[in-house]
Amino acid sequence: MKKKVISVMLAATMVAAMAVGCGSSGGDDATSDQPAGDEQTEEPSGDEQTEEPEGDEQTEEPTEGDDAAAGGDLADKKVGVCIYQFSDNFMTLFRTELENYLVEQGFSKDNITIADGANDQATQSGQIDSFIADGVDVLIINPVNSSSAETITDKVVDAGIPLVYINREPEEAEEKRWEDNGWDVTYVGCDARQSGTFQGELIADLGMDKVDLNGDGKIQYIMVQGDPENIDAQYRTEFSVKALADAGLEVEELDNQVGNWQQDQAQQIVANALGQHGNDIEVVFCNNDAMALGALQAIESAGRTVGTDIFLVGVDALSEALENVISGKMTGTVFNDHFAQSHSAADAAIKFVKGEKNDYYIGCDYVKVTADNAQEVLDMVK
Ligand code: BGC
Repeated sequence: MKKKVISVMLAATMVAAMAVGCGSSGGDDATSDQPAGDEQTEEPSGDEQTEEPEGDEQTEEPTEGDDAAAGGDLADKKVGVCIYQFSDNFMTLFRTELENYLVEQGFSKDNITIADGANDQATQSGQIDSFIADGVDVLIINPVNSSSAETITDKVVDAGIPLVYINREPEEAEEKRWEDNGWDVTYVGCDARQSGTFQGELIADLGMDKVDLNGDGKIQYIMVQGDPENIDAQYRTEFSVKALADAGLEVEELDNQVGNWQQDQAQQIVANALGQHGNDIEVVFCNNDAMALGALQAIESAGRTVGTDIFLVGVDALSEALENVISGKMTGTVFNDHFAQSHSAADAAIKFVKGEKNDYYIGCDYVKVTADNAQEVLDMVK
């Protein structure tokens, strides 16, 4: 219930569209703990026995007739979850909440296996093969490379296993293929264009007078990007700057580097940029909060002060970032609702297991976070 109540409070104070859940999903009543580490996540039994699925015999497509049996007892059903990389802060929140919520819905913890792709598509593909060989009832996959989705979909569909993609959206043509073929495959995630737009608005809302520190009529910024193959990184990069332009503000890009969603890489990038461009940098855009935390370390080491002589925004609403927004060390962030996304992914998986259909795209809203609502969001995510 906690989340629902706070969502309503946020809705009252937010200009932006509120995240009260993804698409058709319902479950808002789970609370979340901080990431509990990796202890619950066993690897599927290794990659060595990666046989190609030989037809559909071990995993028949659920039919209406299976409904009672499947829906009656989720505790017997096996769920395979592939995460692109366990060390990613945001995906740690996501997978922890996903597992808790699946258990709340009736799955047995012993039947949920979560695999770390270690940011390597070959490793993850081996894990998917193992899950198929193991006859899981449903797969939830956060692909290492979205461009591998076609291959992944083919082998999972061939094995007759329903599939829920999360967080890294496959290309439009791939999603269309699921629909055209009527496959039990869906994607759950937020539209990254919205998060980019919110980042730009966080800066534009401060006003040109405040942000244009050198008074040259332009906003000089640097961009720190996530993995460039990821649509979230592409859209956030594009739409944050577009929002400034749409607000009538002139911009100048001083640097644009790939930090791969990583705090340490971002710290290095921003330290170098500050060394090169010094006080000319007025705004630092980071595609996620992990990188914004790295940027903040570099900003502080350079003796600069966020809110006074530089502005900094991220995405995700990690607890540490929210605390920084509250204390003024970050200008703002954007809440990437891992509750709504993980619950929607689990709800979609449950529908598939019960032999029901899902939409092919299940969306979710981001929430703009400033010092005005950061405490409320922090109370919700903690
Ligand atoms: C999050 C990033 C995360 C990435 C992983 C994004 O939506 O904002 O923090 O690293 O997903 O794919």
